[in-house]
Amino acid sequence: MSKIGVIGGSGLYEIKGLTLKGKKTISTPFGKPSENYQLGEINGTDLIFLPRHGKHHDIPPHMINYRANIWGFKKLGVDRILSISAVGCIKKGLKPGNIVVLDQVLDMTRNRKSTFYDGKDGVVHIDFTEPYCAELQKILVKAGRGLPSPVKKGGTYVAVEGPRLESASEIKSFALLGGDVVGMTGMPEASLARELEICYAGLSVVANYAAGISKRKLTVTEVMEAMKEATESIKTLLKKAFSLIPQERGCHCKDALKEARI
Ligand code: HPA
Repeated sequence: MSKIGVIGGSGLYEIKGLTLKGKKTISTPFGKPSENYQLGEINGTDLIFLPRHGKHHDIPPHMINYRANIWGFKKLGVDRILSISAVGCIKKGLKPGNIVVLDQVLDMTRNRKSTFYDGKDGVVHIDFTEPYCAELQKILVKAGRGLPSPVKKGGTYVAVEGPRLESASEIKSFALLGGDVVGMTGMPEASLARELEICYAGLSVVANYAAGISKRKLTVTEVMEAMKEATESIKTLLKKAFSLIPQERGCHCKDALKEARI
């Protein structure tokens, strides 16, 4: 039976409507995950929820123990993760309130532990040509049809270290490189999940125009407000997506370690 994990970002510290069946404290060889994992059910589908910043939002993006979070999901038997995050938009055509089903990544992070394979268990190079699970992407796009918040198919996520926001020139350069949205938590989550052969999809909620795109000063208040407004749409989208996810995985994520070891 497929087990689904959901990672909540800024503004999403719990899923209302989730029938809570229990909580699990997990220890990992990499330290402690951000929070207890909430085991629950929505419309008959089991899911496991984790707020990556902690339930009181006291873990900043650069201090999140990404390895422990993903390892914990694996330990609980999760084989698919839907990851929700707040982002700033870089590309013309996107605006606050939009939801993007991500399909590519530009990783600009510098100081994060970004692999489970640091030599002790052999040398592993996973394929990351398509960073997000193709099967889950299709399901999320389908589940997003007709929602009040428009759901966009495909987008390149620029992952930055944070916690500061970007300069206008940084955003200009990310645009030239093909970035569509910018956020602080999407990496190394996606590649760590791939290293454990877990399907991973990214749903980004556009909370603001990125630096220099709007002439206004960026504030955390506007980010949190936008996230609050998008919560209902995200919940509806997730519920629909759960009903469309097949039991058996039909993608390549489950074989990520095949022919990946030296
Ligand atoms: N930049 C980086 N991370 C973010 C932003 C942003 O503009 N908005 C929400 N998360």
